[in-house]
Amino acid sequence: MKKYFGVDVGGTNIKIGVVSEKGKILEKIKYSTTKDRPDDTTFINHFIEVMGSEIKRFPEIDRIGIGLPGMLSGDRKKILNLPNIPNLGGRKFYKELQNAFPDKVFKLENDANAAALGEYNFGSGKMPETFLFITLGTGVGSGLIFNKKIFNGGKGNALELGHILSEDGKILESYIGKKGIMRMTLNILQEHPESEINDLKSFRPKDVALAGLEGDIVGIKVFQKVGELLGKALVTTLRLLDINDIYVGGGLSAGLKIIEPEIRKVLSQYLPEYYTEDLKIKKASLGNNAGILGAASLCIED
Ligand code: BGC
Ligand code: NA
Repeated sequence: MKKYFGVDVGGTNIKIGVVSEKGKILEKIKYSTTKDRPDDTTFINHFIEVMGSEIKRFPEIDRIGIGLPGMLSGDRKKILNLPNIPNLGGRKFYKELQNAFPDKVFKLENDANAAALGEYNFGSGKMPETFLFITLGTGVGSGLIFNKKIFNGGKGNALELGHILSEDGKILESYIGKKGIMRMTLNILQEHPESEINDLKSFRPKDVALAGLEGDIVGIKVFQKVGELLGKALVTTLRLLDINDIYVGGGLSAGLKIIEPEIRKVLSQYLPEYYTEDLKIKKASLGNNAGILGAASLCIED
């Protein structure tokens, strides 16, 4: 049985999975992304260190897929910009990895694109051949599987959903990414001191969603707003792509039960029924493992 490394790089953690070609996670290891040194050279040194120790443990694995949270050059060799891991723009990440581990094959991809491909290959149920995948987490990203393949656009970075314009000329991610959600929670909390979310320090955005699911008014209001803003972004997206299947992953997809009705409300307000009557919005089935499995599935591709 063939095995691959699937590596999911996020703003907080680097998650490494040992994944079989059938998409079974045999082992999962988690490291902090930046250790305590969030600048460019140290991220890459730290990453190479971490990779080195896993390669030593699994020397038989020769293909390594890596999902990165941002824009890459069209040839997938250079980092252009990772909004939530600063100072890496311009780094020749592929070459640095290849120099460090010359006998390994690396596949780099945008994390949301990789997660979309992972869902396509390993998701439960029969997957459509064309669908939009949205990831809600620290960052907001998306990927399009178009006729069974990742759609990259003209130059490599299509579907940057988190960066389309939202209210006030700000980007969507600044409202519904992790920071935006914490800000929104703080604001709405002021109107509802009775909320159980009273100690924001111990609350993460995902907990706000979970509180909402249990009926907490602040959790509900925050994720309704997320749904409204995401819905507006999807009005544009559906008009452009005429997509019929949407999968939502990432940690904050925990709030999808609150988000989805708001999305549908906005869509039916602004779109003819044609776009929405058969529209499916589903929670991605791979949950927390979407990143790892998606990255691993990059290794199967060719
Ligand atoms: C980046 C996307 C990425 C998303 C999720 C956004 O900030 O621009 O490329 O897919 O975060 O990590
Ligand atoms: Na993407």
